Amino acid sequence: MTTANTARFNAEALSWDSNPSVQLATRLAHAAYLSRLPSPSALSTYDVLDLGCGTGLLSLALAPSVRSVTAVDAAEGMIAALAAKLSSSELSTTVRNVRPVHALLQDPSDPRLAIDPVTGSSDPKPRRFHLVVSHLVLHHIPDLPALFRTMYGCLAPGGRVMVTDFENFGPEARRFHPEAKMDGVERHGIKRDEIKRVLEEAGFVDVKVETAFEMEKAVETEPGSGVMGPVMVFPFLICEGTRGG
Ligand SMILES: C[S@@+](CC[C@H](N)C(=O)[O-])C[C@H]1O[C@@H](n2cnc3c(N)ncnc32)[C@H](O)[C@@H]1O
Repeated sequence: MTTANTARFNAEALSWDSNPSVQLATRLAHAAYLSRLPSPSALSTYDVLDLGCGTGLLSLALAPSVRSVTAVDAAEGMIAALAAKLSSSELSTTVRNVRPVHALLQDPSDPRLAIDPVTGSSDPKPRRFHLVVSHLVLHHIPDLPALFRTMYGCLAPGGRVMVTDFENFGPEARRFHPEAKMDGVERHGIKRDEIKRVLEEAGFVDVKVETAFEMEKAVETEPGSGVMGPVMVFPFLICEGTRGG
């Protein structure tokens, strides 16, 4: 993550949830995760790390199904938006297992992950998670191998990573973002073979990369026109791996 990226996400935090594509992509990703995760009783014991949680759309969707969600984001504005939702009259009495953390996560033993969202206590040992999720983050990351090594280190033995982002299916994938919003976009989606190799090189086993869903999204009439018009279909990949026991 670059400083430009963080500045961009701070600026976008307040309007993030009003983007219908963001909401739709989260709903589809949430369904894709749930369909690949274990039964509700097993899932209810999971401690989850949402890396690059933004305003917490996915964290809040997963929260009722799991034991806890540690929701991490490098942009203070995003974390402030999630914290505001959690202290709102709507959520403050119903959601008690999500903890927002402002951090550019690079170290699995980062002490800011130490507090258990449910008990509020921290263990001297670094916390390890059953599941790391991350949605719409990879295309902003300059160094993917480093990110997946961090995710690997955050997992308990046998823990799983599940990551979703749009696929780089060719030059047209660039149209996912309007030209004026290319700041901090490191790649125009993720490539199946490349991401599979990155997970394997980070140490993950049982690596699988497949199409999770397809999403319609309005794009610019002409790149750079600033006028949204035609609708394109963007495939999203889900990338899964397990930290060996
Ligand atoms: C496109 S936003 C997606 C937010 C959210 N997952 C969603 O789908 O609504 C990407 C987010 O990843 C965060 N991010 C990227 N790398 C990060 C890192 N290493 N640690 C924490 N946050 C990170 C950015 O600050 C940004 O808010």
